[in-house]
Amino acid sequence: MPDKSFYVTTPIYYVNDAPHIGHAYTTVAGDVLARWHRQRGEKVRYLTGTDEHGTKVQRKAEENEVTPQEWVDTLVSEHWRPVLETLDIANDDFIRTTEERHRRGVQAFWTVLKEAGHVYPELYEGPYCVGCEEFKVAADLEEGTGEYAGELVCRIHGRPVEQLSEQNWWFRLSEFGPALLEHYERNPDAVAPRSAYNEVVSFIRGGLSDISMSRSSVDWGVPLPWDPEQVVYVWFDALLNYITAVGYGQNSGKELFANTWPADVHLVGKDILRFHAVYWPAMLMAAGLPLPAKVFAHGWLLVGGEKMSKSKLTGIAPETITDTFGADAFRYYFLRAINFGSDGSFSWEDMRDRYTSELANGLGNLASRGGAMITKYFAGVLPEPGPYSNADLVVQDLLARTVADADAAMLRLDFSGGIAAIRGLIDAVNGYVTEQQPWALAKDDDRRERLGTVLYTIAESLRAISVLYHPVMPSATEALWQSLGADALGPLADQVVTHVVWGQLPPGVTVSKPEQLFPRLPDEEE
Ligand code: MSP
Repeated sequence: MPDKSFYVTTPIYYVNDAPHIGHAYTTVAGDVLARWHRQRGEKVRYLTGTDEHGTKVQRKAEENEVTPQEWVDTLVSEHWRPVLETLDIANDDFIRTTEERHRRGVQAFWTVLKEAGHVYPELYEGPYCVGCEEFKVAADLEEGTGEYAGELVCRIHGRPVEQLSEQNWWFRLSEFGPALLEHYERNPDAVAPRSAYNEVVSFIRGGLSDISMSRSSVDWGVPLPWDPEQVVYVWFDALLNYITAVGYGQNSGKELFANTWPADVHLVGKDILRFHAVYWPAMLMAAGLPLPAKVFAHGWLLVGGEKMSKSKLTGIAPETITDTFGADAFRYYFLRAINFGSDGSFSWEDMRDRYTSELANGLGNLASRGGAMITKYFAGVLPEPGPYSNADLVVQDLLARTVADADAAMLRLDFSGGIAAIRGLIDAVNGYVTEQQPWALAKDDDRRERLGTVLYTIAESLRAISVLYHPVMPSATEALWQSLGADALGPLADQVVTHVVWGQLPPGVTVSKPEQLFPRLPDEEE
């Protein structure tokens, strides 16, 4: 399938509130992955969007005395779209579940399942968590404490569940257990990390029950085509965004769908793994559609040991961090400091420390020293390298290894591993500068050729670093690329990460000292 895009998705976010850094985390990870694949020369489609139906959003609108449509329109235009710019996200599409293309696709999909006999009417009686928008079983609940003492609360939200009794339509999920198990046995990488895979397989082995796919007491949703008094249960509306955004259910969308589906990676938080790795593939099987290649469940950003959340008032708005550190450092920090797949805590101290030591002093300093010395000793004209010494060849060898290691890590979504490989190169080049002492070579006219070789080695390393780091820090690397005169090689975003080899930057280009890539933080400036 030569035209098939590498298709990456984030979950679509509930618009009951504004985004916090937990949401931003998923979106940034998806963007770095998408940009990495684009820079491998692949055709890529990166999708994000908003989940706008359901009880949670409807109630929030009611509390604010506006219609649900007004509420979601305001939140999307004032918060959810702007946050993409705040974080420098290059998504190819943004889907809203209130869009016509989505509603039509949802109705088409469930009509297919209904007609194939996968849907039947039945009474639902049991607990429902509005926070999760999920039908619960006893194991999902615990005794409440404090104001909720004596009540059963959801383990994730810590809030009381509601008892529902509704005549609904049900999806025959129970029929798909064996096929799902077989699929996962054959494709052990289809859910990652391994702990998530094991959780999914053991959940399926425990036996699947049929599940309600509609709601009769909610009206903010997509009406069932065969029973318009009911709406599609919000999760079974939302999951379909991954196909409705690439043309499913639209006549004009056939080519896009054929060239995009199935998804290569669905990025999800571990709290929504079951929806993506059990219910969603079962729905796709029922519709006769191919399954996503991989669902990757990342961990949570924690505050005080608990999942950061707006409902618990622990959500931090992304701008609070980007206003001080900038988008590049935000993107870098969360992917570098937390193993993708594990939980992690955010702390201002840790962020400040890494910003200063790894970005400002590490990469920032190397870039400004390199640019400043070429300006000073060679009037800003990149010198021709002379014969390479062992020390130079060590840097070149390390670059070759860095490219291979970073690529392998990024492909397995080990972002911190990919960043660590690139950091290793930066540290080595900083060490090289200290050892080679170009400022001492500059004092001796006889060593001018050697000085040229050392400065070329620094500039060429910086060029390679800007290519490799571009998916992580698009803006600082662009400034670096310009300062190196590397535009002679074409736009930075077109540089193929896997083709980064030594000796590309042509001697003679104009090199300048870059503007400060990572400015010093405000209160360190005395
Ligand atoms: N609307 C559903 C997803 C539907 S996808 C078909 C939903 N929305 S959400 O807004 O509650 O969460 C969206 C994503 O943000 C989830 O992957 C969730 O794990 C992630 N995060 C929300 N809080 C988070 C943290 N504190 N830390 C990391 N990710 C977090 O679920």
